[in-house]
Amino acid sequence: MKSFDINIHIERYSMEELSADDSQLVEQACRNTSRSYAPYSRFHVGAALKLADGTIVDGANQENASFPVGTCAERSAFFFAQAQYPDAAPVAIAIAAETGGHFTPQPVAPCGMCRQALLEAETRYGQPIRVLLYGTEGVYVVPNIASLLPLVFDGSALELED
Ligand code: THU
Repeated sequence: MKSFDINIHIERYSMEELSADDSQLVEQACRNTSRSYAPYSRFHVGAALKLADGTIVDGANQENASFPVGTCAERSAFFFAQAQYPDAAPVAIAIAAETGGHFTPQPVAPCGMCRQALLEAETRYGQPIRVLLYGTEGVYVVPNIASLLPLVFDGSALELED
C-alpha cells in the first residue's frame, strides 16, 4: 500500500491586509447579502464574481418553498456571468454570509455543488479562480477552485477513447 496527501494552500488576512482590489470584491459580496431571498434558512449569502475584464457580477442565494429549487449565491452569480459574458473568464469570487443581523465570524465556504460548477470555468478558460471567503474574524484566500475539490471530476474523464 502506498499513500499520499493532498495539501491545500489557504492564506488568512484581516480586511486591512487585503489589496484594494480584493477588499473591494469582498465588500461587494458583503453588500450582496442584502440581495438574498432566504425566508426559510434566514442565511443570507452574497457573492461577487470578478471577470477577466474587471466586470463584477453580483450573486445572492435565492430560496424557494420547494427547498431544492433554490440556488446558492455563488451559482446565481456564476450562471448569470456565463450567460451574459460567455467570453469572459471568471478570475475571482468573494463570498460572505449574514444571519441574525450579523456577518458570520468564520468564513463561509462554497458548497460542493458550487465548487463543481465553478471548476467547469477553470477548465473551460484555463484560468484559476481565486476564492475569497469573508468572516468577521478573518478572510481566507484560496488560489483556485480545483484545490477545494481534491481528485476533481471534470470533462477529461468523459473523453472516451474510440
Ligand atoms: N448557501 C449559499 O448561497 N452559498 C453557500 O456557500 C452555502 C449555502 C445558501 C443556500 C441556502 O439558501 C442557504 O445558504 C442555507 O443553506
